[in-house]
Amino acid sequence: MLATLEKLQEDAIREIGSVQSVDALESWRVVYLGSKGRLKGVMPLMKDVAGKDKPQVGKRLNEVKTALESAFDSRKSELSGSSAARAPIDVTEPGEEVATGRRHIITKTIDGITEVFSRMGFSVAYGPEVEDEYHNFNALNIPDNHPARDPIDNFFMDGDRMLRSQTSTVQIRVMETTPPPIKIIAVGRVYRPDTHDATHFSMFHQCEGLLVAPKVSMVDLKTTLFQFAKSYFGDKAEVRFRPSFFPFTEPSAEVDMKMKIKGKWQWVEIGGCGLVDPNVFEQVGYDNDKWQGYAFGLGIERVAMLKYGIQDIRWLFENDARFLRQF
Ligand code: DAH
Repeated sequence: MLATLEKLQEDAIREIGSVQSVDALESWRVVYLGSKGRLKGVMPLMKDVAGKDKPQVGKRLNEVKTALESAFDSRKSELSGSSAARAPIDVTEPGEEVATGRRHIITKTIDGITEVFSRMGFSVAYGPEVEDEYHNFNALNIPDNHPARDPIDNFFMDGDRMLRSQTSTVQIRVMETTPPPIKIIAVGRVYRPDTHDATHFSMFHQCEGLLVAPKVSMVDLKTTLFQFAKSYFGDKAEVRFRPSFFPFTEPSAEVDMKMKIKGKWQWVEIGGCGLVDPNVFEQVGYDNDKWQGYAFGLGIERVAMLKYGIQDIRWLFENDARFLRQF
């Protein structure tokens, strides 16, 4: 049995020296160390070994096993370090696709709208989303008993804090800290506790505009919105005002814009506007004899949904990449 072991070790070590690939090494392992391999094959011979020789032969058996295993390990690490053993690289194969991010459709819409107003000379202002009732209502000439202040329609927090329900708050914030003239837009989130459905969401975005100058009329307002519509929606776009009421403007109007929807030009209501109410100027300490102003507020989601043919506002905020990837 000892001679068989010697022969086995000799053959194994010789053969492993010429093994040149991971596959060949695996075949070698099966032949020598596999469950039906040569080493296992000599085990039954133990029973024929004389009792007194058993310890010595057993020890030798273990040594051969260890020698073969370590030869296998070191050959394996040699081979995996050499390029011959590695799977060949096919340089003509297409690479793995790297997922690139993109701007959210709402961000894209905001950027597009902002760009147009920037070109018309508006700068961009910001205000807090957590507001107080004064800036959200009182300063905007919305009295304490006004229905718009109903808790059903607002996210009130502790104290007199609330999530702003409109970006008109930024008009006040800007006028409080900046002397006229003013020419700003403010884009941001607003919050209302609406039940979510295809056209309502508890958070959405508005684009507010405010111009304060010595002399401002409805013509200036309509011209500005008309220019915006043409630039953003295309040359055939139009603007139409419908008489309305907002506490912070006088006169006030609903703004419709004619835009292309599914290939057809159609009228769509997208916001409100008007000339700044003298009571608002009074709140911020502007001289009503010296200054006039116009203001407008546009719904961003509405613009985005119509422009891109999105039928359900909830899809915008589910963060489903399969949906967002389309835009
Ligand atoms: N803040 C109004 C709303 O959320 C929209 C609006 C109307 C804004 C008229 C204005 C405006 O600046 O002049 O419904």
